[in-house]
Amino acid sequence: STASSDPNLLVGASQGDRLQHQSVLSVSQFTRTELHALFGVAQEMRQMVNRMGMLDLLRGRVLALVFYEPSTRTACSFAAAMQRLGGTVIQMTDVQTSSVSKGESLTDTVRTMASYADIVVLRHPEAGAAERAARALPKTPLINAGDGTGEHPTQALLDVFTIREELGTVNGLVITFVGDLRHGRTVHSLARLLALYQVRINYVSPRELSMPSEVLEDVASRGVEQREYTNLDDCIAETDVLYMTRLQRERFADPNSYERFHSSYVITPRILTRAKDTMIVMHPLPRVNEIAPEVDSDPRAVYFRQMEYGMYVRMALLAMVLGRS
Ligand code: CP
Repeated sequence: STASSDPNLLVGASQGDRLQHQSVLSVSQFTRTELHALFGVAQEMRQMVNRMGMLDLLRGRVLALVFYEPSTRTACSFAAAMQRLGGTVIQMTDVQTSSVSKGESLTDTVRTMASYADIVVLRHPEAGAAERAARALPKTPLINAGDGTGEHPTQALLDVFTIREELGTVNGLVITFVGDLRHGRTVHSLARLLALYQVRINYVSPRELSMPSEVLEDVASRGVEQREYTNLDDCIAETDVLYMTRLQRERFADPNSYERFHSSYVITPRILTRAKDTMIVMHPLPRVNEIAPEVDSDPRAVYFRQMEYGMYVRMALLAMVLGRS
């Protein structure tokens, strides 16, 4: 069944007013108050989906997916989020069968899609592409669904939501990022967003794939303690949130260097014997070989719930950006 709902009535929506009709390009746009307003609405969305399946909140509204790079979770969870809110979805998710293959520019493409839709969700291989596209759309909000090695802000929002849902709080935690921290845009956004909290962050990577200095500097400027390691053994015992990442094969210019790092860090049940019983294992997914399938049945593995939370967070974001415009 469906229900008519006024987004004004959703918990905390009034504190997220600044999101109304705004593009979402970077986590740096968010304050803690706005995050908690969003998370309150996401919790409401979760309850309403479980109770009713879908709502009428965005009936008559259209979302445009514009994806120049592959995606399963981000594209489909945005589509599901819009449909569960009563809206509809159009998509340009295959550059080969769209006019991009004829040489149409990014800005002309998003202008086209925005003329059919109320909101545009963009994934693109170039850092800064989302900001460039948003400037071409003075009337239509745009959500950055990942821009090259730049940011993936809605992934970071769902990641912090996951930590709160699973552990009850973010403050006081030790979060350990593992893997390709140089190319992984999810960790760039998440480290910056976590800097709104009192946390300690560990980075575990091969030296060649370490966290970019501009991210380290941003996080340090917020007073967050950060430590860099090459060996996970040196910090797994103190970790509360183990955030695994995939080697970003598509960002390596030299395939040989990809092969060199391919199996640098693989989480197995044996490695988890050294971790806290309360630790959680997260991953933005897709995984390649960073987490052995035997870990999936460990109660500390939360990555499948993490991707489900993504739909509730994206429902909340769409409701708050479009809800009362
Ligand atoms: N986490 C994430 O962005 O997954 P997709 O690439 O499948 O969208």
